[in-house]
Amino acid sequence: MKKDTVIYQCQACGFVSPKWLGKCPDCGQWNSLVEEREARPLRGHRLSEISTPKPLKSISPIKEKRALTGIKEFDRVLGGGIVPGSLILIGGDPGIGKSTLLLQAMNGIIHYGNVLYVSGEESLEQIKIRSERLNITSEKILLQSETCLEEIIETARKISPVAMVIDSIQTMYSQGIPSAPGSVGQVRECAQELMFFAKKTGTSVFIIGHVTKDGSIAGPRVLEHIVDTVIYFEGEKGHSYRILRAIKNRFGSSNEIGVFEMTDEGLKEIENPSEIFLSERPEGATGTVVTASIEGTRPILLEFQALVSPATFGVPRRTSIGVDYNRVNLLIAVLEKKAGIHLIGMDIFVNVVGGLKILEPAADLAIVTAMSSSAKDIPVDPHTIVFGEIGLSGEIRAVSHADLRLKEAQKRAFKRAIIPKANAERLKGNFSLEIIGVKELNEAMEYLFR
Ligand code: TYD
Ligand code: MG
Repeated sequence: MKKDTVIYQCQACGFVSPKWLGKCPDCGQWNSLVEEREARPLRGHRLSEISTPKPLKSISPIKEKRALTGIKEFDRVLGGGIVPGSLILIGGDPGIGKSTLLLQAMNGIIHYGNVLYVSGEESLEQIKIRSERLNITSEKILLQSETCLEEIIETARKISPVAMVIDSIQTMYSQGIPSAPGSVGQVRECAQELMFFAKKTGTSVFIIGHVTKDGSIAGPRVLEHIVDTVIYFEGEKGHSYRILRAIKNRFGSSNEIGVFEMTDEGLKEIENPSEIFLSERPEGATGTVVTASIEGTRPILLEFQALVSPATFGVPRRTSIGVDYNRVNLLIAVLEKKAGIHLIGMDIFVNVVGGLKILEPAADLAIVTAMSSSAKDIPVDPHTIVFGEIGLSGEIRAVSHADLRLKEAQKRAFKRAIIPKANAERLKGNFSLEIIGVKELNEAMEYLFR
C-alpha cells in the first residue's frame, strides 16, 4: 500500500507545498500552512448521466420549481426561492443568527416535504430550546446531531428531504480524509460530497460556514468555487439589524440584500429598509445627506455622514466606514482641486448610517456633499437627495437605474433631487419631485449651498 504523503496546505487559500513555509506564497497569509495528508484521488462522480456532447439547442432548460420559504427577504436574496438541488453557503460571525435564520427558513418550507437539520455544534436539546423560542413545532423538521459526513448522507438518502442544513461545515469530517475537521482538506471534501448529493437527489443543501477573524469563511476560495450561492449574514455588534447579502448566485442576481431585525422571537424581516435607515436622521445638522443606492435590484435610501475638523496633531486622520477608503481619498482630492474646498490638514471621517457597505460609485456625490457640508458648516436641505458618480476632472457622470432611485425618493416624500445631467435627460417616468440635472461638481455645490 502506498504510504500517505504529508503535505502542507494553506488554510486560507488551499495552496499546497511539500514543505512547511512561514508565509503562503500564493495569498501572502502568515502562519497559515498546516500539515495534512494528501487527499485521495476523486472518485468518478458525475453531475448528470449524459457524458456525450449534445447540441445546446436540444437541451431543455430545467423547469425549476423554487421552494418559497415565505420569508420574503430570504427568498429574494436567493433569487426568488430555493432552487432544488442547489448548494448554498451561509457565512457570518458567531452569534449573528445563522442557525436561527435557517431554522426559520426550514420551517417555512415544510409544506413541500420533510427537512433535515444536522447540527455538529449543538445538542438536540439546545436546538429544541431555540425552536421553542421561535414557536416552531413541526413534525416535519427532523433533527440530527452528527459530524460524520458519510452518516449524514446515508440518513439523508433514506428520508430524502426537500432541503437540509449542515450546521456548520467546519465541524464535519469525511472518513476518507485523515485531516482534522475544519481544515481545508476536510472542508473541501465535505462540500464536494454534499454538492454531488444535492445534484443527484435534488435536495437543496444549506451549509453554514464560520467566518475567520479577518472576515472570510475558513477555506474561502476553496468553498466559494464549489457552491452555487454564497450568502453572508452581517450585522454590527450591539445593533439588532442584520443584513443578508448574496455575494455569488448562480440562480439570481448577486449583491441582493435582505434586511432583518433580531427580536426576542427570532428574526423579523424588514420590508422597508429606507424607513429604518432614515428614522434617526438629525434635523438641521451639517455633514449629512441622503442618497438613493441600488442594492441588487432594490433601491434603498441611506444617510451619509461626514465630519471635517482641523487636525490637532501631525498627519490628519482619514477614516471611512461603509465606503471605500481609497474612493474617499480620491474624492477629497477632487473637492480640493475642483471645488476649492480646503481639506488639507483636516481630519475627515465618513460613515454610512445603519452599518451598510456601499461600494457603487453612484454614492460619490453624497460623500462629497456630506464632506462639503461639514467643511462649510452649512446643512443640506433635508428634503433633497443626491446621487451621481464623480470623475477626476470634477464631472458628474450618469449612473444606472436613475428612475428606480427617484421613485424610492418620491415615495419617502423627498422634494428635490440633484442627479447627473445625462440621467435627467433620459428619465422615463413622471416625477413630482423637482429634478435638477448637473454636469459639474461646482454646479451641484451651487444648488446645494447657495
Ligand atoms: P444563533 O442563530 O445561534 O447564531 P449563530 O448560529 O450565527 O451562531 O443566534 C445567536 C444569537 O441570537 C444569540 O445571541 C441569541 C440571539 N437570539 C435572539 O435574540 N432572539 C431569538 O429569538 C433567538 C433564537 C436568538
Ligand atoms: Mg449556530
